[in-house]
Amino acid sequence: MEKNKITQLFGIRYPIIQAGMVWCSGWRLASAVSNSGGLGLIGAGSMHPETLRDHIKKCKMATGKPFGVNIPLMYPQIEEIMQIVMDEKVAIVFTSAGNPKTWTAKLKAEGIIVAHVVSGSKFALKCVEAGVDAVVAEGFEAGGHNGREETTTLALIPQVRKVTGLPLIAAGGIATGEGMAAVFALGAEGVQVGTRFALTEESSASDAFKQKCISLKEGDTILSLKKISPTRLVKNDFYHQVQELEDRGASADELRSLLGRGRSRRGIFEGDLVEGELEIGQVASLIDTVVPAEQVVEGMMKEYYEAVEKLNRIVF
Ligand SMILES: Cc1cc2nc3c(=O)[nH]c(=O)nc-3n(C[C@H](O)[C@H](O)[C@H](O)COP(=O)(O)O)c2cc1C
Repeated sequence: MEKNKITQLFGIRYPIIQAGMVWCSGWRLASAVSNSGGLGLIGAGSMHPETLRDHIKKCKMATGKPFGVNIPLMYPQIEEIMQIVMDEKVAIVFTSAGNPKTWTAKLKAEGIIVAHVVSGSKFALKCVEAGVDAVVAEGFEAGGHNGREETTTLALIPQVRKVTGLPLIAAGGIATGEGMAAVFALGAEGVQVGTRFALTEESSASDAFKQKCISLKEGDTILSLKKISPTRLVKNDFYHQVQELEDRGASADELRSLLGRGRSRRGIFEGDLVEGELEIGQVASLIDTVVPAEQVVEGMMKEYYEAVEKLNRIVF
């Protein structure tokens, strides 16, 4: 028998990490997942620094279990955000969208466990050099901002596994225990689940966004905005406006000015399904109900054990 590296590292029961997600993952979702035995992450990406402090304080009140904060490194007030995380003695930080070298050593000097999100094995090597404690490898299927390489989770995980022995968390397209078993077979030791948790009761996304996402069919999302920051979007009116500009060969500046500010807030949080930016993963088309986060964690673990048993029964 071998102990799981991710549950050991974070001091949690199940190796299921609820992804940090703009406009979805506040203290309510993070604490619900942590209380269910997974690891909840507060998504700092959509929060003003003092809002983040408030969410951290509320999360501490709502759970005695480990939880963390996800910080996209291109965040404009990054110094302030990091100071808050250190002041509040947050034990776990997941960084993304940037170079892990910039903050890992400083966070680790404060005793913080650091994981970093990558979309390819060359970035995983940078994580090793930076001294992170765990790598999250996120494939092309994933919701939100995405890598330019378009490597799918199935192709990505074994390649990242090949270049590093660090604890490895797979992300992108994982919403079930069967998906979890599949990436474990490829060498992952944990899963980071975004889309499935964005569409739970405790997610702070608007109900309109959740209902729209659970109605999606295969092919209803696409990786868009590649000239500025590749993002997986629902093909709504806003996406079609982007597409029209891109077809005309628009510059990055033109795309930036169409995007403007607050598009994802408008789409995800305020529920403007027409003009808003609706970020969600390919696996949304597999989801048809909005349930409590605890049900997702428990359901995934049950499915995982059943999937492994089923595979064990196959004879050749
Ligand atoms: C609505 C939404 C918002 C997201 N926001 C962030 C974010 O702020 N920071 C980040 O590192 N990743 C973000 N992501 C990506 C997730 O952290 C996660 O890696 C991804 O959702 C996993 O793939 P899945 O959606 O197929 O489960 C977001 C994803 C979604 C769906």
